Amino acid sequence: MPASVILGAQWGDEGKGKITDLLAEKADMVVRYQGGNNAGHTIVVGDEKFALSLIPSGVLYPNVTPVIGNGCVIDPKVMLEEMATLRGRGIDPSKLLVSGNAHLIMPYHRKLDAVIERFLGDAMIGTTKRGIGPAYMDKYSRFGIRVQDLFDPRIFRKKLEVALKDKNKQLMKVYNQLPLDVDTIYDEYMVYADLLADHVTDTSLAVWEAIDRGDNVLFEGAQGTLLDIDHGTYPFVTSSNPTAGGAAVGSGIGPKQIDNVIGVVKAYISRVGTGPFPTELHDETGDRLIEIGGEYGVVTGRRRRCGWLDAVALRYAVRINGLTEIALTKLDVLSHFDTIKIATSYTSLGERYTEFPRQQRVLYNCAPHYEEHEGWGDDISTATTFGALPERARSYVERIEELAGVPITTVSVGPSRAATLDRR
Ligand code: IMP
Repeated sequence: MPASVILGAQWGDEGKGKITDLLAEKADMVVRYQGGNNAGHTIVVGDEKFALSLIPSGVLYPNVTPVIGNGCVIDPKVMLEEMATLRGRGIDPSKLLVSGNAHLIMPYHRKLDAVIERFLGDAMIGTTKRGIGPAYMDKYSRFGIRVQDLFDPRIFRKKLEVALKDKNKQLMKVYNQLPLDVDTIYDEYMVYADLLADHVTDTSLAVWEAIDRGDNVLFEGAQGTLLDIDHGTYPFVTSSNPTAGGAAVGSGIGPKQIDNVIGVVKAYISRVGTGPFPTELHDETGDRLIEIGGEYGVVTGRRRRCGWLDAVALRYAVRINGLTEIALTKLDVLSHFDTIKIATSYTSLGERYTEFPRQQRVLYNCAPHYEEHEGWGDDISTATTFGALPERARSYVERIEELAGVPITTVSVGPSRAATLDRR
């Protein structure tokens, strides 16, 4: 494994949590490199279900050092709550390392995320309203407050005052909201500073040292390829780079230090929030994928939009990320369908597309062309080897592999760790 990136190859919610958790068992370090508590990872260990949004999944293993890298945005309140929840369930998060260069999500970011969405009306993005976009906006406009500023109270206060002058004007004059109080926020964040002090360090150096020692380091992407700010379906995307390149920038290592890039692909596809979605099903089949697949958001509880696997988008994810292997998840959900489809090309505005269209207008008008596969019908959730799957399930997996041009090394047939087939 040495240094591997694991990331979502679709619009997020591919089941990354489970696959990351499986790999974390053998890892020494698990690093989050972008996003914040907009992510939702559900991990099932025995009879216990853990839902994490910010802390890397690897925290469940005593052998793993969990790291939140510089590319992340951190809501300290959420992070401390997550740590307390873990402690309450017998898991020790004391090894957690947090980058001093990561940016803080502030109360005005959360507030602005909600009011901007309301202001956008029909054009809304459908964000998680956790303040992610506004925090990244401040990062890139160089208005941001970083984790390291917490430990320099005078500088923190000064930056907060400057930021609030601007934010309060926006909140009051543009969005008709009440202003926020400097002292209240200052006092709240100084308490967080005390609680976080032992965790904050130069994580880029810690990751480099781990790689240098030959440790197994796993870079855990949140959201998914098609939600990437540069390569996703802009503007209906998140505000960071979940794609593989983001792992280098967001954790402070060079790209050549990454050995493998594992794309997690759901056997069908889903998306939350608004934006184009060529294979979305608006019929009873779509409803069944949602219900059987339990497609409701971990963070917001929102019902996900669902559709058949999109091989055009998959090939795009292979290319953008340089995927070296694929972990295919939720194959068991498809056992309930007589016919299973895969989109292999689109027609839009009179033209045929076999590559993911770069023009938003084209993408919005895509009608997918499907190939049909006969379902296998049998329950596959107790299979323990790939060879034990019904022939039609195997050929569905092999066909995806052929379309992607990348080996599918893992197939997941249920939420538990046991329901995992290794094809390596
Ligand atoms: P934000 O990341 O909260 O700004 O939301 C931007 C877009 O990304 C919205 O469409 C969200 O629904 C989507 N999004 C954010 N995080 C996730 C995730 O973890 N899984 C799936 N979609 C997500």
